[in-house]
Amino acid sequence: TPPAQIRNFCIIAHIDHGKSTLADRMLQITGVVSDRDMRAQYLDRMDIERERGITIKSQAVRMPWSAGGETFALNMIDTPGHVDFTYEVSRSLAACEGAILLVDAAQGIEAQTLANLYLALENDLHIIPVLNKIDLPAADPEKFAKELASLIGGHPDDVLRVSGKTGVGVEDLLDRIVEQIPAPKGDPDAPARAMIFDSVYDSYRGVVTYVRMVDGKLEPRERIQMMSTRATHELLEIGVSSPEPIPTKGLGVGEVGYLITGVKDVRQSKVGDTVTTLRKPAEESLPGYTDPKPMVYSGLYPIDGSDYADLREALDKLKLSDASLVYEPETSVALGFGFRCGFLGLLHLEIITERLSREFGLDLITTAPSVIYEVTTDTGEKVTVTNPSEYPDGRVASVAEPVVKVAILLPKDYVGTVMELCQSRRGSLLGMEYFSEERVELRYNMPLGEIVFDFFDHLKSKTQGYASLDYEPAGQQTADLVKVDVLLQGDKVDAFSAIVHRDKAYAYGTLMTERLRKLIPRQNFEVPIQAAIGARIIARETIRALRKDVLAKCYGGDISRKRKLLEKQKEGKKRMKMVGRVEVPQEAFIAALSGD
Ligand code: GTP
Repeated sequence: TPPAQIRNFCIIAHIDHGKSTLADRMLQITGVVSDRDMRAQYLDRMDIERERGITIKSQAVRMPWSAGGETFALNMIDTPGHVDFTYEVSRSLAACEGAILLVDAAQGIEAQTLANLYLALENDLHIIPVLNKIDLPAADPEKFAKELASLIGGHPDDVLRVSGKTGVGVEDLLDRIVEQIPAPKGDPDAPARAMIFDSVYDSYRGVVTYVRMVDGKLEPRERIQMMSTRATHELLEIGVSSPEPIPTKGLGVGEVGYLITGVKDVRQSKVGDTVTTLRKPAEESLPGYTDPKPMVYSGLYPIDGSDYADLREALDKLKLSDASLVYEPETSVALGFGFRCGFLGLLHLEIITERLSREFGLDLITTAPSVIYEVTTDTGEKVTVTNPSEYPDGRVASVAEPVVKVAILLPKDYVGTVMELCQSRRGSLLGMEYFSEERVELRYNMPLGEIVFDFFDHLKSKTQGYASLDYEPAGQQTADLVKVDVLLQGDKVDAFSAIVHRDKAYAYGTLMTERLRKLIPRQNFEVPIQAAIGARIIARETIRALRKDVLAKCYGGDISRKRKLLEKQKEGKKRMKMVGRVEVPQEAFIAALSGD
């Protein structure tokens, strides 16, 4: 297809504003999916996506659309909506010339709509504002058309009104895409340059790489080169998704399609990288390649220690389809053998642990999420700490923590409560803006460490679910942070160490010692539970000693009863962990880590 007849666009929307439903309807109206084959959320392939109604992996679909006697190829590039995947969103946007800004006509603009809109504007995309779900009785298109027009400029009447559910207005939208979104530009004679905007692992075909051709042409059987690593592969198949894969004779300027090279690991085909050919390599790669960096770390431990090898295998498998997942082996006194894993954010963590349990049948304990601290020691050495156990105790000169810029959109009645919440999490107010009479945007600078720990849940419950949240990295700040350790009879229990602000150290220490006192059974001796900053004890609880030996009640005879009792104890011991001389049932650790 010549570039003049190509339109590349994406849909940006807040979660649940109906992106997938609209995409489904477009597939149906353009005839690429027959009514018979249609099923809801056609493009969301992963079960977990469909169940939770979220889109994790972006994909592209090509749809034919006739306008003014010509047939156009519309490439719709699906983008993930959640903050954790901002990098993937920005790569998908960079593959487009235009974006549909889709807003629920009963809800109005939300925090993620804004975040993605700003990304689209940074990428110079033409924006088509659209209100969705106009079939809903609660829809108020007049009001939200004004809101949208005042946000991006233009007249409220130019805001399209559609229903992805009934199909109303969707044909007009397709016409408008052809009319308004610019055709792609590129040099057909230049060396090939294609940007990878997605890379998906398929157990049958290996890695399927989605690309947007910028210059030149790619053809099957050619040797291609990844510009970031210089690795070369043979192009076994090249084609377009419509939405099932259709092999083609090649891809030219402006086209969007997929490549298959037989590689088995998405790390060899990284999002943001530029593909060129070995025969006529491009000199400069396309802008924008960065390795996604984990923001949040957590330990994953199998509840049953014999599942350790399975956990490793499962992580290796997940890594094939998710280049942003990082992990390394770790051992813990309390929890045994496990892995320290890095995630893009909390949703990413949740998705991975859920997939481990659902797809691989693993029962896991997840330790409290931690962010990355940069510690400077008294000798000026810099230490990166992603796990409290790496904290250079006693040698700390200063600690820097990651900070994020947070945007919260909420109804004005909740402003007071939410400000209190943000302040209690060490937020500093950057600004407040009214979007309409009822809706307000609050902007804060906040330590990421304060957000990863159940901030979102608190925000939702304090606003009856009406607030939406978005954040982006905003550098680091030094803060008065300390490491709090929890000790059982003087021995450190590693899984409970945490890096917290000094003002919150006491609260954390009391909480943990109290919790453990309730969970750890009495022993033959007295067990002190302490919380400490370095050598200074800040909280203490005591588990009193058992008065009698277990066998005491058996004295007086029956030897078989005595043996049975001992055997029963032995079985119990398998699930016991020793911390120094103290026996702790693993369940106690799990309960203490998961309680709130
Ligand atoms: P993510 O993929 O998670 O970002 O969500 P989404 O934006 O794709 O939303 P989705 O299409 O899953 O729709 C969310 C909910 O809104 C679903 O329950 C849909 O049935 C409903 N919905 C979507 N479009 C319409 C519409 O036009 N009218 C009505 N009444 N409901 C709609």
